[in-house]
Amino acid sequence: MEWSALVLLLVLLPPPPCASDDRLLVGKPLSPGTTIVSDDGGFALGFFSPANSSSTPANLYLGIWYADIPTLTPVWVANRGAPATNTTSSTSNLALSDATGRILWSTNVTVSGEVTGGNVSGSYAVLLNTGNLVIRSANGTALWQSFEHPTDTFLPGMKIRVVYSTRAAERLVSWTSPDDPSPGRFSYGVDTFTSLQLFLWNGTVPIMRDGPWTGYSVASRYQPNASAFVYQAIVSTDEEIYLTYTLSDGAPRARYVVTGSGEYRFQSWNATLSSWAVLGVWPASDCNRYGHCGAFGYCDNTAAAPSPATCRCLEGFEPADGDEWNHGVFSAGCRRKEAVRCTDGYFAPLTGMKSPDKFVHVANRTQDECRVECANNCSCVAYAYANLSTTRTTGDVTRCLVWAGDLIDTEKMGDIVGSDTLYLRLAGLNNAPVQGKSNALRIALPTVLATTALIITGIFLAWFKFKGKRRNSKGHNTKSSLVATSTSDDLPEGSPAQDFEFPFIKFEEIETATANFSEAYKIGQGGFGKVYKAILGGREVAIKRLSKDSDQGTEEFRNEVILIAKLQHRNLVQLLGCSVEGGEKILIYEYLPNRSLDAILFDNSRKVLLDWPARFNIIKGVARGLLYLHQDSRLTIVHRDLKAANVLLDAEMRPKIADFGMARIFNDNQINANTRRVVGTYGYMAPEYAMEGVFSIKSDVYSFGVLILELVTGIRRSSFNKIKGFPNLTIYAWNMWKEGKGKDLVDPSIVDTCSLDEVLLCSHMALLCAQENPDDRPLMSSIVFSLENGSTTMPTPSNPGHYGQGSSDMEQIRDRTDTSMNSLTLTNLEGR
Ligand SMILES: *[C@@H]1O[C@H](CO)[C@@H](O)[C@H](O)[C@H]1NC(C)=O
Ligand SMILES: *[C@@H]1O[C@H](CO)[C@@H](O)[C@H](O)[C@H]1NC(C)=O
Ligand SMILES: *[C@@H]1O[C@H](CO)[C@@H](O)[C@H](O)[C@H]1NC(C)=O
Ligand SMILES: *[C@@H]1O[C@H](CO)[C@@H](O)[C@H](O)[C@H]1NC(C)=O
Ligand SMILES: *[C@@H]1O[C@H](CO)[C@@H](O)[C@H](O)[C@H]1NC(C)=O
Ligand SMILES: *[C@@H]1O[C@H](CO)[C@@H](O)[C@H](O)[C@H]1NC(C)=O
Ligand SMILES: *[C@@H]1O[C@H](CO)[C@@H](O)[C@H](O)[C@H]1NC(C)=O
Ligand SMILES: *[C@@H]1O[C@H](CO)[C@@H](O)[C@H](O)[C@H]1NC(C)=O
Ligand SMILES: *[C@@H]1O[C@H](CO)[C@@H](O)[C@H](O)[C@H]1NC(C)=O
Ligand SMILES: *[C@@H]1O[C@H](CO)[C@@H](O)[C@H](O)[C@H]1NC(C)=O
Ligand SMILES: *[C@@H]1O[C@H](CO)[C@@H](O)[C@H](O)[C@H]1NC(C)=O
Repeated sequence: MEWSALVLLLVLLPPPPCASDDRLLVGKPLSPGTTIVSDDGGFALGFFSPANSSSTPANLYLGIWYADIPTLTPVWVANRGAPATNTTSSTSNLALSDATGRILWSTNVTVSGEVTGGNVSGSYAVLLNTGNLVIRSANGTALWQSFEHPTDTFLPGMKIRVVYSTRAAERLVSWTSPDDPSPGRFSYGVDTFTSLQLFLWNGTVPIMRDGPWTGYSVASRYQPNASAFVYQAIVSTDEEIYLTYTLSDGAPRARYVVTGSGEYRFQSWNATLSSWAVLGVWPASDCNRYGHCGAFGYCDNTAAAPSPATCRCLEGFEPADGDEWNHGVFSAGCRRKEAVRCTDGYFAPLTGMKSPDKFVHVANRTQDECRVECANNCSCVAYAYANLSTTRTTGDVTRCLVWAGDLIDTEKMGDIVGSDTLYLRLAGLNNAPVQGKSNALRIALPTVLATTALIITGIFLAWFKFKGKRRNSKGHNTKSSLVATSTSDDLPEGSPAQDFEFPFIKFEEIETATANFSEAYKIGQGGFGKVYKAILGGREVAIKRLSKDSDQGTEEFRNEVILIAKLQHRNLVQLLGCSVEGGEKILIYEYLPNRSLDAILFDNSRKVLLDWPARFNIIKGVARGLLYLHQDSRLTIVHRDLKAANVLLDAEMRPKIADFGMARIFNDNQINANTRRVVGTYGYMAPEYAMEGVFSIKSDVYSFGVLILELVTGIRRSSFNKIKGFPNLTIYAWNMWKEGKGKDLVDPSIVDTCSLDEVLLCSHMALLCAQENPDDRPLMSSIVFSLENGSTTMPTPSNPGHYGQGSSDMEQIRDRTDTSMNSLTLTNLEGR
């Protein structure tokens, strides 16, 4: 076989200024045996032959695979339907052609370039570290990219989308078989008809469906087996809607893939085993299969349901064929127990559902109008409503769905991100006609901590599977072992905390370890009490002795501590135990050698330890920790005192948020509340909180914005000293930004290491976080997403929140701290 005859040539694509082997160059064609490797060595572009291909001569394909993984795993194939055997090339483009001149594959992009004496202006092709092959014009515009022409693999950063105007959609299409990359029968993508749901198809027949989009933007889930977070985002712009995802830093290689056997899988590379671990498979069970439970049946996929997941009839329905149903044949579905008369029905709200398929999307309706839309039409059997305004800012933000025929492919997922409330028309209740106000019977489904729900690409399922496993292996966990109650409301009255195997440590042990709280062991003092370093059980720990102004009773305190101990996240300081004796309230945390961020960042001799990549990682880590507190822990914890002193750094400078949950311990556990006691640190406090005592997750977002600015500028936010003539750091940054001098904000000690794009992204984000109106500040979920992706378009920040300086403001704050000055940490009182 004449391998040398097979080449891929990029004609007229010029070498970039610094030519490297991640690019296609003029006169340096790619032939079998040679590859182009991305800058970080992660991906390779070249020719490959599928593992067990039996054809002779071997079929050759141009593809991209992981260069850092020993198992050949193609993630993209150019000529999937047109294998090459004996090929040569020549064309005016990035193209693959054979000896006869037949073009096997081409990007169809017309590029122009001009060569003037060795200097070339024009386009070039480069394989990026993400695995994306991009043809760029001289001005950097991407003319073509392999990410927009996916094959069977969904890589982090890729988009699966639908363009509204053209209905053009990207779909993953399986290989025919493991040795044949030609397009198979299975595909995965957004349904172009509604643009609201994702399907896995067998040809044109649905195999599996994810429920209609409910308007969330980012859902994050932890994958224990990969020790990684997966951030799944749905982004809706004026032009398009797309699904994308990213992984947290340090995550192993991972990908979604549609297999030739009709499964959608999530795989992660396990370097120890040197193989792909399958962390999720969909459909996960028969119950997940499209329409498996028949008309008006639903699959119960909640954790509370018996395993394996099984079919049920919707409220007010019974099996159409009881015998078959009892023998596990569900295709006949369910029928109404009682016919509905149009005039005297009511809508039963079914919460935590994946809404059925075959809906009609009625545009531009409020929730009430949506109900009326359904109520006034006798053929309407159900409706569901969502307000997409949190993620879609322009156009129609309403999502009113109505159903006229059978309800197909419904699922009970539990109260999790992506679930809908389905309003089902039922007969009866003369006193509750459909047209009436919604005094409908409330059918509350149990709220569960974790469910096996199938959601947009089903990450949640995998998550639960492993969560379940983890729970089973609880016996091995010596640190804490906690049952799955999600809020304090779930704790039965008087529930003894001893039920939870959480370590309660004897006060005298702590006294001994700290030599009776001797100053020699003290390492800090914060708003909530003093902190000591000691050795307990052979381990270095930080011991926080709470000041006495916590007004909680002992039992309450124990319960709160148990709840907080359940918050486990790599960006939160781990709570290891506590002690509650003789009126003492003591918390024991892991000890972190690098102590707090402020001690390094604002120390001229040590700040060089934090180069820009380290700072950017701190920003991203704190964002993830906050997202977990706000959204994913199910407790909705507002930190209320986020600041550099409360961000601790481990040996590798990874950030961990300290003092979270203190607001709960100090007995202010409403989500958005007026509080008598303003806890926080001047300069980080959102204006509405400092001035009016109103706090919410958005006040944490404000503090986070200030923290970003400190990391970018290396300047301590200051309430008393002017910063370069401006009253405080946010106003200084805002003015620089406004004048287009964003890059001048950068701390001189990191100028050499910083990526301007990242710095500008972070400054922009910080100013959005620090806006005056809490509603304008972004949610942590979109912040995390933008930081991870670096690319989503962001609104222009408005005026930063600002409260005046001077003693009168301070007096006002003092007046509110009617319990104790201890709970207000002022800049000049900070101990650390
Ligand atoms: C190739 O064939 C071997 C032996 O039949 C088998 O073990 C292996 O799984 C096959 N690989 C692929 C990718 O099909
Ligand atoms: C392959 O191409 C070469 C010329 O490039 C030709 O001589 C040879 O016959 C071809 N082989 C086959 C099997 O087509
Ligand atoms: C290029 O255009 C041809 C014909 O229009 C089409 O079949 C082919 O799929 C296109 N190639 C790519 C990579 O889009
Ligand atoms: C190539 O470009 C550089 C800078 O743009 C210029 O100095 C040099 O003279 C050019 N070389 C030729 C051969 O045109
Ligand atoms: C960049 O170049 C492409 C074609 O080469 C052109 O269509 C586009 O308008 C240019 N964009 C800018 C910002 O100059
Ligand atoms: C996940 O990890 C656990 C324990 O480390 C192991 O038993 C299990 O097989 C793993 N699952 C997968 C899919 O690799
Ligand atoms: C690899 O697999 C082994 C065995 O299942 C497991 O113990 C280990 O945690 C896995 N490693 C990673 C990085 O997932
Ligand atoms: C896909 O459809 C074909 C033909 O309808 C059928 O034979 C096959 O079993 C289906 N495969 C799956 C995985 O559903
Ligand atoms: C939505 O409905 C309101 C009145 O119900 C109307 O004023 C508005 O123009 C409609 N918007 C669109 C985009 O149709
Ligand atoms: C959607 O929610 C936003 C914010 O909660 C609200 O301002 C808006 O009126 C709602 N729109 C509809 C149509 O319900
Ligand atoms: C009632 O709903 C059906 C199905 O959506 C629709 O075809 C019909 O036009 C509606 N009737 C009225 C009066 O709106």
